[in-house]
Amino acid sequence: MLRDAMVDGLKASGAVRSQTVERAMREVPRERFLPGDLPHTEVYADRSVTLSQDDQGFPTSTASQPTIVARMLEQLDVRSGHRVLEIGTASGYNAALLARLAERVVSLEIDPVLAEQAARRLGPAVDVRAVDGAAGAPDAAPFDRVQATVGVWNIATSWFEQLAPGGRLVVPLWLRPGLEVSVAFERRGDTLHSLSCEPCAFLRLRGTHTGPDGYHPLGGGSFAVADFLSASDATRLGRLLAEEPGVAEAVSDLPRGWFPSLALADERALKVFSLHADQESSGLYDRRAGALALIGDGVLLGYGDAAALAADLRTHVESGDTLDPTTLRITARPAGTPPREPSRWSFSRPSFHYQVGTTP
Ligand SMILES: C[S@@+](CC[C@H](N)C(=O)[O-])C[C@H]1O[C@@H](n2cnc3c(N)ncnc32)[C@H](O)[C@@H]1O
Repeated sequence: MLRDAMVDGLKASGAVRSQTVERAMREVPRERFLPGDLPHTEVYADRSVTLSQDDQGFPTSTASQPTIVARMLEQLDVRSGHRVLEIGTASGYNAALLARLAERVVSLEIDPVLAEQAARRLGPAVDVRAVDGAAGAPDAAPFDRVQATVGVWNIATSWFEQLAPGGRLVVPLWLRPGLEVSVAFERRGDTLHSLSCEPCAFLRLRGTHTGPDGYHPLGGGSFAVADFLSASDATRLGRLLAEEPGVAEAVSDLPRGWFPSLALADERALKVFSLHADQESSGLYDRRAGALALIGDGVLLGYGDAAALAADLRTHVESGDTLDPTTLRITARPAGTPPREPSRWSFSRPSFHYQVGTTP
């Protein structure tokens, strides 16, 4: 059976580790939550499925890739008797899995059409609400587990406040442009301590708690992944990309993890990808100089007055400095709480202060 083959694959890759998650994934038919005309080979392929798009053709809702669904459920470690809050119902597939694992599941979806569809598919097993998930579900709190299945720049205070002491929050957190990790946090007192981090790439949270993070259309089907671009920066970047590059050099032997280390070290880091060509490149954008330097497909390209920027990018790559995102350790405290120990990197965002380091 295709479903068993999918779960066997997820076990073999290490995405499924526990018997509880394995059993839930073997039991829940994914086809029930996906568009009816999708062939079963697609339903059980390890790919995300787009459910809705904006007018640029960019997805606004997807059923997540089974690998990340499984990894996040393992991070969440739901036990029977738990009360769980999910933000981002979309297809309802993850909510159905949660319902197999927990006592009570409340799932929040900002798109009322998707929420209504998912509520119909899930029945009474899940309390689906068509609301902006930034406020959580105060009437059903406290929760033993809170899971966001949508990408977040800054944890919402309500999720923290509605999490029971010792409870777990799993959230795809945007640390830097192109560096996003699904973090399993445990609440200890007024602090969230990370237990594990898994690389991921999620659609961004919409509504009242939206951050400056995003996928900026650059024209020609290209997007920049950044949290420091204004609309005029994006227009300028799109124009730069349409020019002939002034720098074009081969780059060989790119060390794995070169970009995450650049992203944390250099505030000019960003990613650019093309929806149509399925290409991704990573590098630096200097807003003041109007210069862009990107590495993709083994080539370093520089646009605008990019000689110095391209040299910085090459120096970083040749330094051999790398970072494995799974080694990140993060603590998050409500804004205004003073940091208690020094950390290698830190970010202050409106509701939380983040301190980031790595395991030795
Ligand atoms: C990647 S999908 C979630 C996948 C889903 N868990 C599943 O099993 O299919 C992200 C969803 O989050 C929703 N979303 C975005 N911002 C939201 C918000 N502020 N509150 C609730 N849902 C939101 C989107 O509409 C989208 O459906």
